[in-house]
Amino acid sequence: MATKRRLWIDTDTASDDAVAIVMALKHPNTEVVGMSVVIGNVPVEMGVQNALYTAELCGVRVPVHAGAAAPLVRPFATAQHVHGADGMGSIGLPLTGRVATSNDAVHALIEAFRSEPGELELVALGPLTNLALALRIEPRLAQWVKRCVVMGGTGVLPGNITPLSEFNWWVDPEAVHIVLESGMNVEMVGWDVSVADAVIEDPLAAEIRALSPLGAFCVDIQKVLRIFCEESSKLKGFDWPDPIAMAVALEPDIASREAHRRVEVSLGQGHERGQTIVDHLGNTKRTPNCRVVYRVDRERFIGMVKAACIA
Ligand code: RIB
Ligand code: CA
Repeated sequence: MATKRRLWIDTDTASDDAVAIVMALKHPNTEVVGMSVVIGNVPVEMGVQNALYTAELCGVRVPVHAGAAAPLVRPFATAQHVHGADGMGSIGLPLTGRVATSNDAVHALIEAFRSEPGELELVALGPLTNLALALRIEPRLAQWVKRCVVMGGTGVLPGNITPLSEFNWWVDPEAVHIVLESGMNVEMVGWDVSVADAVIEDPLAAEIRALSPLGAFCVDIQKVLRIFCEESSKLKGFDWPDPIAMAVALEPDIASREAHRRVEVSLGQGHERGQTIVDHLGNTKRTPNCRVVYRVDRERFIGMVKAACIA
């Protein structure tokens, strides 16, 4: 068997992050060496509980470190109206009482990559605050990370938190700028990919739910997201941005359309706060800094989700 892919996951653990974590923990050729939690969907301490609960449900012991409790400079709001007050669909799961490995995710992340330079891959499923703080402390981190798959931004419009911006990049645009300018090997899986290839309609959700107790967990925690998607994103189901980004992290050749592009982020206010700026035509003449994934093989993605639920 090929050598295992070894991942560090940075997450603002809510209902779609949790499914991405299940996919990684249950993937046959992957080892999750640690997780760092960041503010985003829910307050960071809630994200820690959700990550610990999800790992416990998968029967996997993995270090979970609490990280940034606020963006670098911006005022912001969580997305509990999207995922539920507890981030996990408010279905009454026992999401309290677990203990984080540490409250210093930034240094834990730095030390993990320092100890194995070029060996570990990073998957970022939330705002990039932890990553930016780590890069400010230790700029060499950009070289130590083998590849960094980011769920965030949007390769093509619209955004989901404003007409121009995706939530993770809207929360902390300064952090995104630091990461994009760091020289790190970044791969962007934007919200446009989720809407195009990761919408789970009700019949498919029922299929996944029926697979196993883990399948039921993955679907049931989307209860609030399902309502939000119907009312706000006008989707006949819910979309899974973090799971499809994790699919690209776990099996990079699942991407069916991609390009190496110069990507920047707007540091403006209002609608353009956190807007993704993709130089599709190369007319900035600036060096491309990101593998932009535009489409993914949907059937293979659904197969990966189902395989994780029965692993
Ligand atoms: O815009 C979607 C992203 O924002 C996902 O990562 C979701 O979990 C939220 O963090
Ligand atoms: Ca997320």
